[in-house]
Amino acid sequence: MRFDPGSSLGPYELRGIVGAGGMGEVYRAFDPRLNRDVALKIVPDDLAADPRRRERLRREAQAIAALTHPHIVTIHSAEDIDAHLVLVMELVEGRTLAEVIPSGGMPLPRLVKIAVQIADALGAAHDRGIIHRDLKPRNVMVTGDGRVKVLDFGLAKLRDPIESAASRHETESLWELTGEGKIVGTAAYMSPEQAEGRPLDHRTDLFSLGIVLYEMASGEKPFRGESVVSVLSSILRDVPRPLAELNPRLPREFTRIVRRCLAKDPDERYQSAKDLRLDLDDLRPGADVQRTDAGRAFAVFGYAVAPRADRRRRRRRGDRRRIGRLVRLVSRPGAAAGVRPRRVRTRDGRSRRRVRARRVP
Ligand SMILES: Nc1ncnc2c1ncn2[C@@H]1O[C@H](COP(=O)(O)OP(=O)(O)OP(=O)(O)O)[C@@H](O)[C@H]1O
Ligand SMILES: [Mg+2]
Repeated sequence: MRFDPGSSLGPYELRGIVGAGGMGEVYRAFDPRLNRDVALKIVPDDLAADPRRRERLRREAQAIAALTHPHIVTIHSAEDIDAHLVLVMELVEGRTLAEVIPSGGMPLPRLVKIAVQIADALGAAHDRGIIHRDLKPRNVMVTGDGRVKVLDFGLAKLRDPIESAASRHETESLWELTGEGKIVGTAAYMSPEQAEGRPLDHRTDLFSLGIVLYEMASGEKPFRGESVVSVLSSILRDVPRPLAELNPRLPREFTRIVRRCLAKDPDERYQSAKDLRLDLDDLRPGADVQRTDAGRAFAVFGYAVAPRADRRRRRRRGDRRRIGRLVRLVSRPGAAAGVRPRRVRTRDGRSRRRVRARRVP
C-alpha cells in the first residue's frame, strides 16, 4: 500500500517516499509533536499479519532501538498505527553507499574513512549482542560531509522466524516482496554460513563487510551469478579475483585485510570488528602517525601519499640535523677560524679530538 505525500499516518505527516525494500516502504515524514523530520518504515501487512509474529517484530525492533551510536541509524520506536506496524527512525540526509561507489571503485582515503565508521558501528552492535545480518551498500548511508549511518541493524532477522536467510521460506517470501533483482542483490553480500543456513555469529557481518570493501575498492562484486542459487554457490565455493588485478594501485596491506574478511571459515577471519577497525585505521592518512607507526604507513603507501604530518616531521628532523651540525661547529674552539679538530692518540692509547689542528683547505 502506497501513501500519498501530504497524507497522515497517526501523528505523522507523510512528505514522500524515499525508498522501498524487503521490509517495506520508507517514507520521509514530519513529527509535529517533536517538530522534527523522521523516516517511517512501514512493514508490509503480510509480514505483520499474524499477531504473535507482529508482537515479536515489535519486541525485536525495540531491542534494536536500544542501540545508540553515531554511525547507526537510531530507531525511535516501533508503533502500531492504523493496523500498520511502523518503525520510526532518524531521517538521514544523504545517499546510500550503493549510489556513492563509482564504477571503478573509490579512492583509498575516502574508502578507509567510510570503512572505519562501518567497522565502528558493527563493533558497537556486536558488543551488545546484535548482529546486522544484512550489511550491504544499500544499507549504508553516507551524508554530504562523509559521515556514515548504517541502516537496518538486525532487521533481516525479523523477516522470518526461521533465521536462515537462505531458508526456503524466507527466500520465497523475499522473492514475493522484492522481485528477483533485489534478492540477488541481497544474496550477494551473504556469508557462507548464511548461505548454508547454518547458525550465525557476529563474524557473518565481517564477511559481508569484506564484500562491501571489495566492491568499494574495485566497483565489482566478488561473488556474482544470474540467480540467487548461483550467487550463493559462488559465495560457498569461489575464490574472488585478486583485488590487485582489478586495481593495481591498492596497497598490499588493504588487499590482505579484504582477503582475511572473506575467509570462508569464520575462524580464519578477523575475530572482531574492533581488530578489523585497527587494521583499517593503519591505512588512514594521519591517524597512523598519531600511533607512531609511521614506518608501517610508508611501507604501505610509499612516500608520495605519506601523511602530511609525517612529511613535516621528516623535514623537522632534517632541520634539527642541520642545526645540530652548525651548533657542533661553532661550539668547537677554532671552528669559526676554519680549523677542524684532529684525532690524536693520548698516552693511554685512546683516541681523542684535539683542537689545534690543520687548517681546512
Ligand atoms: N532512516 C532513513 N533515512 C533516510 N533514508 C532511508 C532511511 N532508511 C531507509 N532509507 C532509504 O530507503 C531505501 C529503502 O530502504 P529499505 O531498507 O526498505 O530497502 P533496502 O535497504 O533496499 O532493502 P532491505 O529491505 O534489504 O534493507 C534505502 O535504500 C534508503 O535509500
Ligand atoms: Mg535497508
